[in-house]
Amino acid sequence: MDKIRIVGGQSLNGTIPISGAKNAALPLMIASLLSEEKLILENVPRLADVALLQRILGNHGVDITVNGKRNGDSPSAGQTMEIDARAIVDTTAPYDLVSRMRASFWVVGPLLARMGQARVSLPGGCAIGTRPVDFHLDALRALGAEIDIDAGYVVARAPRGLTGARIVFPKVSVGATHTALMAAALAKGDTVIENAAREPEIVDLADCLLKMGARISGAGTSTIHITGVPRLRGARHSVLPDRIETGTYAMATAMTGGDVTLAGARADLLESALDVLRAAGAQIDVNNEGIRVRRNGAGLFPVEVSTAPYPGFPTDLQAQLMALMTRAQGRSRITETIFENRFMHVQELARLGATIHLEGDCAVVEGNDHLKGAPVMATDLRASVSLVIAGLAAEGETMVQRVYHLDRGFERLEEKLSNCGAQIERISG
Ligand code: EPZ
Repeated sequence: MDKIRIVGGQSLNGTIPISGAKNAALPLMIASLLSEEKLILENVPRLADVALLQRILGNHGVDITVNGKRNGDSPSAGQTMEIDARAIVDTTAPYDLVSRMRASFWVVGPLLARMGQARVSLPGGCAIGTRPVDFHLDALRALGAEIDIDAGYVVARAPRGLTGARIVFPKVSVGATHTALMAAALAKGDTVIENAAREPEIVDLADCLLKMGARISGAGTSTIHITGVPRLRGARHSVLPDRIETGTYAMATAMTGGDVTLAGARADLLESALDVLRAAGAQIDVNNEGIRVRRNGAGLFPVEVSTAPYPGFPTDLQAQLMALMTRAQGRSRITETIFENRFMHVQELARLGATIHLEGDCAVVEGNDHLKGAPVMATDLRASVSLVIAGLAAEGETMVQRVYHLDRGFERLEEKLSNCGAQIERISG
């Protein structure tokens, strides 16, 4: 298994190109199942999760072509993917694939809406919490589907098609909003989704569905209206920039000090995180190229932050902020409200010399300036990258194991950081 070796202490200076968003690319690829015509996605990041979803869609009979680079394309340009779901040969998504990536469960909505049936494995356990799928199933039932659970599989049927309905989510869920949106796009009549997730990735999916001929209004607010159409056509759509990758490198820069431009990043996608970084002492400027993050000399201030659905502070940046706060001058409090078990990085940060104790869903971080490199590993993607951030500021060598977590969601991480002066390398093993 590959490892990442970091020798800490260098400031970051230069430009980091921001890739297309993983959490937008995945539902967009899944939306291809809604149409017999080709969906062309641009700016798709090269990530292990994207490659796995290609396999899962391939299993349903979807043809995917990835265009090579053209002369003059920048090395950081994302891939262009032509997805052709004309012939769906299998409406089953098997356990061995779905259990490896939860988001693949989301094929259930489009398969059911277009084919009238879907048999999709329940995703099973997860490192950051129990993560049930009850909201997805309730939304599909509201649209008229019959749902049974059989031998670990969700068996969903709607032989006469789905019918528009009022769907009220008891709690904000990104995935369940994606499911409801995709299923309702092909249902007969009107659907209203209340307490919908407002994440930019929902808006990106809705924008793509609009290009495909769907009738949707209100995406980005908590009430989304959809009028179903009998069929959707092909379209071309570019995946929006990754706000979590942006926030991660912004925090890395605040951690080490330096001056980094996050090229192609969009500040409007992560205002709450940028506000927290400003409060912590980073200088943030938005320019034509993207976002410029600076911290020169001055120390870091502690913050009090709670994660929340968009536009609140994202849970997917909680671990990275915790790493940053281990260097602040004073006590920070970071409360996790989305997932009940997303503190697996705490013990690993402690191995690097951080002082953090947990009070229920709140992590209390006693900042100090004495991180020291050590071997560490993590059980999820964002936790792993928080260890990289800590390693960049720690004295001496940090070895991050289980790099496959990082490869799921960060494209060319070690290259992007070493181009800005970090001493970081991948060791194959
Ligand atoms: C998405 O997961 C993201 N994944 C996650 O990013 C992200 O952390 C999460 O949204 C929250 O922002 C992708 O976009 C691929 P939810 P999702 O449904 O949709 C509960 C990463 O690192 N819930 O919004 O699965 C759930 O347990 C990943 O890139 C139910 O109770 O999350 C949680 O407490 C990790 N029943 C809350 O809702 C349900 O049926 C929000 O989860 C569904 C969710």
